[in-house]
Amino acid sequence: MNFSELLNGNKLFNIVAEASRELGVDSYVIGGYVRDLLLKRPSKDIDIVSVGSGIALAQKVAQKMGDLPVVVFKNFGTAMIKMDEGELEFVGARKESYSRNSRKPVVENGTLQDDQNRRDFTINALAISLNENNYGELLDPFNGMSDLKRKIIKTPLDPGITFSDDPLRMMRAVRFATQLGFDIDPNTFQAIIDNKERINIVSCERISDELNKIVLSPKPSYGFKLLYHCGLLEIIFKELTDLQGVESVGNRAHKDNFYHTLQVLDNVAEKSNDLWLRWAAILHDIAKPATKRYDEKIGWTFHGHEELGARMTPHIFRKLKLPLNEKMKFVQKLVRLHLRPIALVKENVTDSALRRLLFEAGDDIDALMTLCRADITSKNEVKVKKYLTNFNSVEHKLKEVEEKDKLRNFKPVITGEIIMETFNLTPGKVVGDIKDELREAILAGTIKNEYEEAYQFMLEFASDRFNLQPVR
Ligand code: CTP
Repeated sequence: MNFSELLNGNKLFNIVAEASRELGVDSYVIGGYVRDLLLKRPSKDIDIVSVGSGIALAQKVAQKMGDLPVVVFKNFGTAMIKMDEGELEFVGARKESYSRNSRKPVVENGTLQDDQNRRDFTINALAISLNENNYGELLDPFNGMSDLKRKIIKTPLDPGITFSDDPLRMMRAVRFATQLGFDIDPNTFQAIIDNKERINIVSCERISDELNKIVLSPKPSYGFKLLYHCGLLEIIFKELTDLQGVESVGNRAHKDNFYHTLQVLDNVAEKSNDLWLRWAAILHDIAKPATKRYDEKIGWTFHGHEELGARMTPHIFRKLKLPLNEKMKFVQKLVRLHLRPIALVKENVTDSALRRLLFEAGDDIDALMTLCRADITSKNEVKVKKYLTNFNSVEHKLKEVEEKDKLRNFKPVITGEIIMETFNLTPGKVVGDIKDELREAILAGTIKNEYEEAYQFMLEFASDRFNLQPVR
């Protein structure tokens, strides 16, 4: 098969071909770029393998492109040219052998075929020639093209060896299957089951990078189900597998919170590409196993799972090496508040309850509403419809209150400084108590968030509660 037409779209390949010819080395486009080109998926980074020095080829290409800088990784024998559109990576064809306890291989120079043998999946081992005699020819020793058509993830060599060599590839198999909507070949999947414990030699950061790519896929539940069935999920994220299972007492059963969570995640994924909103979906019920009780009168309850879940969030983020910054705080906030809008689905909800929610959610109120809508996963369509309609009315009421009171970025007009100056106080509990009381009065609607009214309220409260009088 010849793909010179496809390559012609990018003049870079002509430059690489010319540079290779001048150096007298063979070179090929290989890996993810070829896969994505054939799948017509957008792809930024290009990998070039040369049978000879990758670094020398990179330098020659950079020179031809107007002396672009080359980043050389001497230890790895690779070099990279950064372009506006993406990275152009060069590597010399190599043969790798691995030791049992490390993902770091012993590397020797090799042929193109050696280089293709060391790759993770047949669809990632495809190469297209940039050489004069067969420019554009597809070199496909493992029938990767047919696997692309059949939508199969499969290792080129014995999968047991491929995964044992580099266990991160087990995560990659699931990740590619999820991103592309492919199946994993049964032997390849069995090898993941057999080698799952080897994931323990991979750093948490690498695992989470792959996990995040799964989370960001169009239908992330598919990846989580694969991870669950091969046993990797229990090793890397036990809290999530703990959600699996249904318990019943008599004829009262609770729903399977693992599959419910995955459904919520897919629902959120349909509405938003925000990684962290998707993480909020993953974690929203994470504390259900820890809070599960059976009550003769009510049935199954999970009281306080939102609060405990919020408290578990930083621990889970730390373990998975996810960032412990404002992203984590956002997820934590959504986990904590995820039941609140449902509680507002009542006809006679008070403005004060709406104000409180707006105040606590702040700018994240829209994300919270997306999560809450996604959380309605009943099989009963009438029920789902009813809930969603009720949500519309909650949203409408929230908008009204928001417009009236501008509570999203609510800051009380009376600050701590004003309180301290008025009563000649130093920072401490009394100042905090007065501030809290003012905030509560504003949220409850007792007073408006306007200076005069709030100031009067402060004077009265400080006098009644603390016997304080203004100093001027
Ligand atoms: N590769 C591999 N084993 C790994 C990582 C990478 O065999 N653990 C090979 C594959 O041939 C892959 C290529 O190196 O196609 C480039 O790797 P990478 O950039 O990580 O993946 P891509 O396939 O380009 O896909 P993506 O950009 O979506 O990560």
